[in-house]
Amino acid sequence: LSNHNAIRINVGLKAKPYEVVIGGSGLKGISKELIKAGIKEGSKILIVSNMDVAKPYGEDFQRNLNEYGFKTHFLILEAGEQYKNIETISQIHDAAYKANLERGSLMIALGGGVIGDMTGFAAATWLRGIDFVQVPTTLLAMVDAAIGGKTGVNHPRGKNLIGSFHQPKLVLIDPITLKTLPEREFRAGMAEVIKYGVIQDYLLFELLEKIEDLSNSSSLSESMLLNILERSALSKAKIVELDEHENGIRAILNYGHTFGHVIETLCGYGEWLHGEAVSMGMIAAGKLALMRNSWKQSDFDRQKVLLERTGLPIVWPKLNSSTVLETLQGDKKVRDETIRFIIPTQIGKVEICNSITKEEIKDCLYSL
Ligand SMILES: NC(=O)c1ccc[n+]([C@@H]2O[C@H](COP(=O)([O-])OP(=O)(O)OC[C@H]3O[C@@H](n4cnc5c(N)ncnc54)[C@H](O)[C@@H]3O)[C@@H](O)[C@H]2O)c1
Repeated sequence: LSNHNAIRINVGLKAKPYEVVIGGSGLKGISKELIKAGIKEGSKILIVSNMDVAKPYGEDFQRNLNEYGFKTHFLILEAGEQYKNIETISQIHDAAYKANLERGSLMIALGGGVIGDMTGFAAATWLRGIDFVQVPTTLLAMVDAAIGGKTGVNHPRGKNLIGSFHQPKLVLIDPITLKTLPEREFRAGMAEVIKYGVIQDYLLFELLEKIEDLSNSSSLSESMLLNILERSALSKAKIVELDEHENGIRAILNYGHTFGHVIETLCGYGEWLHGEAVSMGMIAAGKLALMRNSWKQSDFDRQKVLLERTGLPIVWPKLNSSTVLETLQGDKKVRDETIRFIIPTQIGKVEICNSITKEEIKDCLYSL
C-alpha cells in the first residue's frame, strides 16, 4: 500500500474512548501509537499471537517495541477456533505470570478474531483487568471483532458463552497484513462487511455490488479496501458508542449470527469459518424476514447474490431441526425464553424481533 495518512476513527465511549487507526505507518507505528494512547514508555508487554501471524510479522513488531524501551514477551498459541477455549486462557495467564505482568502492564493481540477475543479476555481477568491493544490481521477482525470490547471463549455447548466486556486502549489496523491472509479467510471477513451493508449502510452495500470480483482480495483497489475498512469500522464504532453493553441497538450486529452460531456449535468449531456460518445465517434470517413479509423478495435476492458472488456458502447445512431449536435456545441472545432475531426490513435497515415462534423457525429451516 502506498503512503497515506492514517485514517483515525474515534470510539467515543465516555469513560474509555479509544482510536481505531487504519493504515499510515501500520505495524511500524505501534510504539508511537501506544505512547499516544497513554501507555507508559518502558511498560511490560505480552504479545499474544500464533505461528501464521508471528512468522511474517512477529519479529519486526517485537523489535519496534523493544527499540522504544518496552519490555516485551512473546506467546505463540495454536491457531484455530477449536483452541478458543478456557484451557488456552490458562496458557495466557501462565505467560502473564512468567512475564511478571503488573497492573500497569499491557497485552497486545496480534492476530485474527480468535487471538483478539482470547487475549482481551485474558487481559480482562488478569489482576482483575489490565490494558490491552488489538492489532487485527484478518479482514474479519479488522472490520468487526477487534472493535467494541467483546472478549471471550467458547464453551463446548455454545459459542462465546464465557466472556466479558473489556475495551482495548487502541486498535491498530495495517491492511498490508491482508496480503498473507488465505483467500477463504478474506471471503469470510467480507461476510461481516456485507452484514454492515444490510443492517445499516445501504451505500456500502451498493458499493460492494459494483465491485467486479469480490471473491479475491487482490482484485480490490487500495482505495476501495481502505474505504471498506473505514466504513465498516465506523459502523461498528457508532453502534458500540450508543450501546456498549448490548442492552439494545448493539444487538443488530448479531444479524445472521444467531443462526450462524448454531452452525458453528453443531458442525464443530473449525468446520465452517465464523464468517461462512454468518453468511448462511444471513440467508436463514433473510428467509425468516421473507416469510413474515418483512422485506421484499428482491432485497432477499440482492443479499443472496452478493454473498454468492463473494464465494460464501449460502446453503443451510443438513441439521436436525429439533437440535437446531435446542441450540438456538442455549444461545446468549435468549431473553425471558424468547429468541431474539434481527430481521431486515430492507437493505440498510433491520429491526429487533422477539415474537418469532418455534413453528416459524421450523418452517423457515424446512424451506432453506
Ligand atoms: N469480539 C467480537 O466482537 C467478535 C466479532 C466477530 C467475530 N468474533 C470472533 O472472531 C473469531 C473469528 O475471527 P477470524 O475470522 O479472524 O479467525 P481467526 O482468528 O481464526 O483467523 C483466521 C485464520 O487466519 C490466520 N491468520 C490471521 N491473520 C493472518 C494473516 N495476516 N496472514 C496469514 N494468516 C493469518 C489465523 O492464524 C487463522 O488460522 C471467532 O471466534 C468469532 O467468534 C468476535
